[in-house]
Amino acid sequence: MKTDTDITTLLEVRGLQVRYGGVTAVDGIDLDLPRGSVVALIGSNGAGKTSVMNAVMNLKAGCAGTRRFDGEDIASLRTDQIVERGVALVPEGRRLFPHMTVRENLAMGAYLRRNRDGIQRDMERVLDVFPALTAKLRQPAMSLSGGQQQMVAIGRALMSSPRLLLLDEPTIGLAPAVVQLIGDTIQLINREGVNVLLVEQNASVALNLSSYAYVIERGSVVMHGLSAELKNDRRVHAAYLGL
Ligand SMILES: Nc1ncnc2c1ncn2[C@@H]1O[C@H](COP(=O)(O)OP(=O)(O)O)[C@@H](O)[C@H]1O
Ligand SMILES: [Mg+2]
Repeated sequence: MKTDTDITTLLEVRGLQVRYGGVTAVDGIDLDLPRGSVVALIGSNGAGKTSVMNAVMNLKAGCAGTRRFDGEDIASLRTDQIVERGVALVPEGRRLFPHMTVRENLAMGAYLRRNRDGIQRDMERVLDVFPALTAKLRQPAMSLSGGQQQMVAIGRALMSSPRLLLLDEPTIGLAPAVVQLIGDTIQLINREGVNVLLVEQNASVALNLSSYAYVIERGSVVMHGLSAELKNDRRVHAAYLGL
């Protein structure tokens, strides 16, 4: 059911809990993603960032708490229904189909769509965003460099024509020049109207790309605020910026 209680918020999460057996990985997290924005989740390894992303996509049974997308309660929808509503995940570790070609991997992102012209337009758009992939379309995904594989993973998610892209550690393990390219791409697709929830262990990258950020520790939000302000926060510096 849709309500228009808060039309400025695209994604609203309240009291999110995720448990693995007896372990509570996410313990009552609230977060908001305002329309038009890039919002970052930062925190060290094991803090619960991936669990939050997977819970938004309903990839795991047994999560509790409210998830609303564009005013609709999505907590009880299946993952494919959430994708149809306009949410796409670029998973941690990319999860490409290694033996399939780049073109086939990209096409997998559009598997729920029937509009061939729309799919073709989005394929062209992905190749505009990542021109390096044009020459690789017939190659198996596993033959690409790490950076190019990340481009395929983002491209595949864009092929579902999302309004909200969930990016889980998109720059991990990549060379600085490639990190810069991925960052530029995130800003470009955001300007074109795609909202972004960005998970990063690299707090510096995340705070530079986002307008608002949440710091997660042991399953709880311990700090949140404007990214420009968090960048200058002593505690954030000490814990996450390595200075
Ligand atoms: N499938 C799982 N089974 C059991 N514990 C898990 C599983 N996935 C994650 N965890 C635990 O949940 C906590 C949060 O993990 P995760 O969400 O992956 O954190 P992050 O993405 O911030 O590194 C960690 O303590 C992790 O060990
Ligand atoms: Mg993770």
